Amino acid sequence: MTTDIKIKKLGIGCDHLGLDMKNAIRDHLTAQGVEVVDIGVNDADPVDYPDIGASLARRLADKEFERGILVCGTGAGMAIAANKVSGIRAVCVTDPYTAERAVASNDAQIITFGSRITGSSVALMLADIYLRNEFQGGGSAQKVDKLKALDD
Ligand code: RB5
Repeated sequence: MTTDIKIKKLGIGCDHLGLDMKNAIRDHLTAQGVEVVDIGVNDADPVDYPDIGASLARRLADKEFERGILVCGTGAGMAIAANKVSGIRAVCVTDPYTAERAVASNDAQIITFGSRITGSSVALMLADIYLRNEFQGGGSAQKVDKLKALDD
């Protein structure tokens, strides 16, 4: 694994269940010099995760930021919502190997976390792993090209 964060600008968002974890990741990455665009939410009022997930994914597809992180209760709903946006590949991450391969193999621009699944300290570590790795190309390029061909 390489040691430097590979991006300058990241978008982050959450639903009401992901608020505390989203804020912790935002502050952790800001402290490392990443420009973090926080699209909310910023209070505990219930919201529908597809609204936040799709909004962040659309803004990333428009190149407002290089990568994104989304947090909900399980990470599943946010991943489903983000993957509905053409051109976006989002992976729900719970372990270090998937954090690395999500970008190295899958070229995922977004990872998602479940605040009810993963502890905040673990999520910070997984975010670092994801952001310190890059797409490896090579044999993975043909497979990612086939994913791109599935986009609308
Ligand atoms: C709450 O809406 C819950 O369903 C959400 O946070 C997430 O776990 C969905 O996948």
